[in-house]
Amino acid sequence: MMDYYNEFKAKNYTFGGFYLMSKPLLLIVEPELIKKVLSKDFPYCTSHGMHVDEEKDPVSGNLFSLDGEKWKNMRSKLTPTFTSGKMKMMYNGILACGEPMVDHIKILANQSQPMNAKEVLACFTTDVIGSCAFGIDCNSFKDPDADFRKYGRKLFQLTWKAAFVRFLGKIIPRLRRIGMEQDVRKFFVESFSKIVELRENSGLKRNDFVQLMLDINKKAVATGNNDGLKLGQMLAQSIMFFAAGFETSSTTMTFCLHELAHNMEIQRRLREEINATKQKYDGKLTYDCIIEMKYLNMVIDETLRKYPPASMINRVFNKDYEIEGTGVTIETGTRVFISILGLHRDHEYFPDPEKFDPERFSDENKSNILPFTYLPFGEGPRICRGFVSVYCKPKLDYVYY
Ligand code: HEM
Repeated sequence: MMDYYNEFKAKNYTFGGFYLMSKPLLLIVEPELIKKVLSKDFPYCTSHGMHVDEEKDPVSGNLFSLDGEKWKNMRSKLTPTFTSGKMKMMYNGILACGEPMVDHIKILANQSQPMNAKEVLACFTTDVIGSCAFGIDCNSFKDPDADFRKYGRKLFQLTWKAAFVRFLGKIIPRLRRIGMEQDVRKFFVESFSKIVELRENSGLKRNDFVQLMLDINKKAVATGNNDGLKLGQMLAQSIMFFAAGFETSSTTMTFCLHELAHNMEIQRRLREEINATKQKYDGKLTYDCIIEMKYLNMVIDETLRKYPPASMINRVFNKDYEIEGTGVTIETGTRVFISILGLHRDHEYFPDPEKFDPERFSDENKSNILPFTYLPFGEGPRICRGFVSVYCKPKLDYVYY
């Protein structure tokens, strides 16, 4: 996708097209048009183009795949999970998941063993999402083959079979669904069913994602409206939140460590900031202490620029769309792509794009970044719902809903 981006950009195109087999696809290059499609003209292009059949495949009814009114309802129902207040409450749970990771790294260091950063961080983020969203101990460090880590790993393994199904999905919309091997699907459906049932029966209350879904149901019963979540809907959201949560954030941290290893001066400055801020908070890594670490935020922003875990965004036009001033009308059903990686590595927007330079995100430089050229979380009403959890700070939500 980045190659197409570069090719169209070199020709000064605002947008361009290409074919996947017989299907015409659109790639938008110019930030102004990206802004229109993702934000201003959102009602023309609301869907991620996934096939949803909640009867036959309840897992397909997740927030990422839903469209139209169903998506709008689900998104506003789930919104209370991601307030900065909630994040603050979960923070101690996140810190606690860090302890087994630190112990694990210490053992490796004492034995002069190399560390597989991606695996260690994926264990950490699996434990975090397990504990903070579902109230379970995933045990990823105690047992590297613990079920949640094992099946989480499989969820993102691109086997030939999964690649083939994904490819077919591009041509046959009915097959376009979250590709998952049967055993992986079975594990997550059974595990999350048990978690929801146990919580419901035990009456135990926690401030987490499962509780939020159960509260939605309670409210629906109390108010007598038919607005609750069925078990299938709860499973669909749980699996998606687990998948969306652990992989993207561990990928970000892995690339961040990679760059810090290659850029000792940046690493030194970051260590200094972390140690100095910690000292101010009596040696404790509290929530407020983390928020105060400006340089850490800049380093993460730059990591997400150079290595966006989601390298592109896609949408499908649900109405004919005329691209203003061109006389070109994009037909209903056309898939449209935005190459996040292409934009982030474009030297017009980010000079010397291969250089890892957190200064791009300092207070004075950040305002020079052209809107809609930095999109690690997407944009518009469908912007990543986990945004607040990644940054521990809220972003203004869209008026659309
Ligand atoms: C570094 C971390 C992450 C990155 C880079 C990331 C990136 C993205 C991107 C690019 C999208 C598509 C947005 C669009 O189509 O405009 C997305 C959607 C989404 N993400 Fe994330 N994400 C991250 C972490 C998370 C976390 C931790 C969660 C939840 C626990 C999460 C939940 C979601 C959900 C629910 C959607 C679908 C939103 C919708 O369609 O309404 N993400 N994310």
